[in-house]
Amino acid sequence: MSDFLKLNRDGDVAIVTIDNPPVNALSFHVREPLMKALVGLRDDSSVAAIVIACAGRTFVAGADITEFGKPVQQPDLRAIVAMLETIAKPTVAAIHGTALGGGLELALGCHFRVADAGAKLGLPEVKLGLLPGGGGTVRLPRLVGAVKALKMIVSGAPIGAAEAHAAGLVDAVFEGDLTTHVVNFAREIARKGGPFTPVRDRDEGLGETDLAAFDAEAADLARKARGLEAPIACAQAVRNAVTLPFDEALAAERALFAGLVASDQSRAQRHLFFAEREAAKLPGKDTPKRRIGRVGVIGAGTMGGGIAIAFANGGYPVTLLETSQEALQRGLATIDRNYAVSVSRGSLTEDARRQRLAQFKGSTDYADLTDCDLIVEAVFEDMAVKKEVFGKLDAIARPGAILATNTSYLDINEIAASTLRPQDVLGLHFFSPANVMKLLEIVRAEKTAPDALATVVDLARRIGKVAVVVGVCHGFVGNRMLAARGAESEALLLEGATPRQIDQAFTDFGWPMGPFQMGDLAGLDIGWRNRKARGQTADIADTLCELGRFGQKTGRGFYLYEAGTRTPVPDPEVEALIRDKAAEKGIAPRTIGAAEIIERTLYPLVNEGAKILEEGIAARASDIDVVWVNGYGFPIGKGGPMFWAGLEGAGKIIERLEYWHQRTGKDVFKPAPLLKRMAETGSWEAGATA
Ligand code: 3HC
Ligand code: NAI
Repeated sequence: MSDFLKLNRDGDVAIVTIDNPPVNALSFHVREPLMKALVGLRDDSSVAAIVIACAGRTFVAGADITEFGKPVQQPDLRAIVAMLETIAKPTVAAIHGTALGGGLELALGCHFRVADAGAKLGLPEVKLGLLPGGGGTVRLPRLVGAVKALKMIVSGAPIGAAEAHAAGLVDAVFEGDLTTHVVNFAREIARKGGPFTPVRDRDEGLGETDLAAFDAEAADLARKARGLEAPIACAQAVRNAVTLPFDEALAAERALFAGLVASDQSRAQRHLFFAEREAAKLPGKDTPKRRIGRVGVIGAGTMGGGIAIAFANGGYPVTLLETSQEALQRGLATIDRNYAVSVSRGSLTEDARRQRLAQFKGSTDYADLTDCDLIVEAVFEDMAVKKEVFGKLDAIARPGAILATNTSYLDINEIAASTLRPQDVLGLHFFSPANVMKLLEIVRAEKTAPDALATVVDLARRIGKVAVVVGVCHGFVGNRMLAARGAESEALLLEGATPRQIDQAFTDFGWPMGPFQMGDLAGLDIGWRNRKARGQTADIADTLCELGRFGQKTGRGFYLYEAGTRTPVPDPEVEALIRDKAAEKGIAPRTIGAAEIIERTLYPLVNEGAKILEEGIAARASDIDVVWVNGYGFPIGKGGPMFWAGLEGAGKIIERLEYWHQRTGKDVFKPAPLLKRMAETGSWEAGATA
């Protein structure tokens, strides 16, 4: 019937199969034949029931996101669903894989939904800064109740087939060949006879809605939205489903959707959706990959332990190597505790814990790493120690094994040069806690072989990481830009801002926390040791460390922490210390506003990003955004620093950088040439090739 839609008959049951790889998105070239097919089947008296199914790996995974922001071509999804609801004979959605967003909304237009046991169903639009715009907010609550619909729509998290069945979203769950089951199901339903009630006319989910409880839940979710508009709009739309007649609620949903789809926040989140997928692409996508069976991890400290867990959770057996039995046992005990916490929180079963623990093998002997296909080093941040480790690895690792370092700052070309196989050496820069944080900076060294790189990019996806390939420089993309962001923090304090004011400016911007709270959380001693090693100082932070104020771990840092809490309380002692230091330096305190805090911290961040792009350390501006959103908490509603620079205006950023450069003479404020080209062309990429 079309390249994207097939029509089959099994007796009196018609099967419409959408075939739009890779995820059967509801593009215009699907909607148009789908509408025609459904109208034809509605009017065909030889058809007793209609099944909507999908070819390939999944049911419809949503509207076609690439069409957003362009004029809508009719029929849109709403028109198709409205048409479906005029059909008197039974309509059945046959769901396998994922029925997401517009996919689930299409299924909600059917009288019945049947699912494969492994299917997942959800409305993830909120993750794109949107709400379900095809009637999902109005129909889902009619089946599963307002509070469950609210949770599903505001979280965007899909539910499994069994849960969907229990909640009333799905009418039957089958294992095995779904088509056979669904055809039998449809025929049986048709035989029993109607009338068949469309979801719009059902209300079993709404009957008992306790609006006070709903509003309490919605208020709680709104608090967690941290400045994002979409979760609030989602909650409003679901509330409308309870309080307004169907058509009014549907119209209100449409109006909210139209507002969101045109918003900067949704543009930012859609940018991130594609940016994450782009980041994982390497030139020459057919590069062969090496086989990775067992993974070795050297060092069972903070990072090594987390990295080992990340691989074990991804299904890889891990050999963990330490310098002594004592350090090894300490590391393994921490891993054990980590899993025990997951069990106590209910996120892991006891059985799964045992299976995961069985993946680990501890050792203090390098000879035990000879069967590893990838070895990740996470020992102390010291070039001499790293070189020694890589020298040993060079002697024992099997030919072709990939040798990776988790260094935060060190020169990976130099580490690679300490082996006779630099083509097998690269960086795998995990973020702490390594088993939780999504970001993985994959550092390509000068001599890294393409197949080694392709292998770890693929591996990253297998262990649930968001990978970004970066080049070698001090701090790579993330930590190098972090240093630029932090460069003015101390100056702002000395000039009159308090840690609380600075952190507040960050949280008002949408960050989960500001730089001082983050420093207290990570431990101020880490930066202190780093500065000492590099012959650098920081007036305030060094003094705090000399006083034993390392942050949360000592109960005191830039803030005070009551025993057993993580709530930062401003400390008059720290504020006095800052004033004394300022007086010593002859700096008179003044009032500093949030706008100045943002421009002196985030404009240099963008500027450093531009330099990184110029130097080819990152391949695309969007890769930098992926690093900052997934590794450092840059607000998703602003799309990452490079996307945000476009919203803010590169011209304005340059003007203010130049102003601060003139006032302070500091290099971080000197606008990068690429930033200037961005201001002229409006695009980082155009700038890069100009
Ligand atoms: N529209 C357009 N392209 C899409 C898409 C969509 N809805 N969903 C996925 N794609 C593309 C991806 O960009 C990627 O393209 P590429 O190969 O060129 O990079 C390709 O499909 C494969 O995607 P993934 O790499 O993500 O494949 P996975 O197998 O890892 O994941 C998935 C599959 C779970 C379906 C995941 O792609 C996903 O979550 N997709 C988005 C689902 C979504 O957000 N749906 C709601 C859309 S908004 C909507 O429906 C509005 C409506 O209410 C009106
Ligand atoms: P850590 O001090 O917690 O752990 C290091 C471990 O390595 C110790 O258990 C030590 O016994 C072991 N070790 C030292 N030399 C060894 C050797 N020759 N062979 C085997 N084991 C050895 O340090 P952490 O924080 O885990 O850092 C490790 C690496 O990860 C460093 O390069 C660091 O820069 C990097 N990193 C750290 C992050 C963090 O937030 N802590 C984040 C990202 C990277």
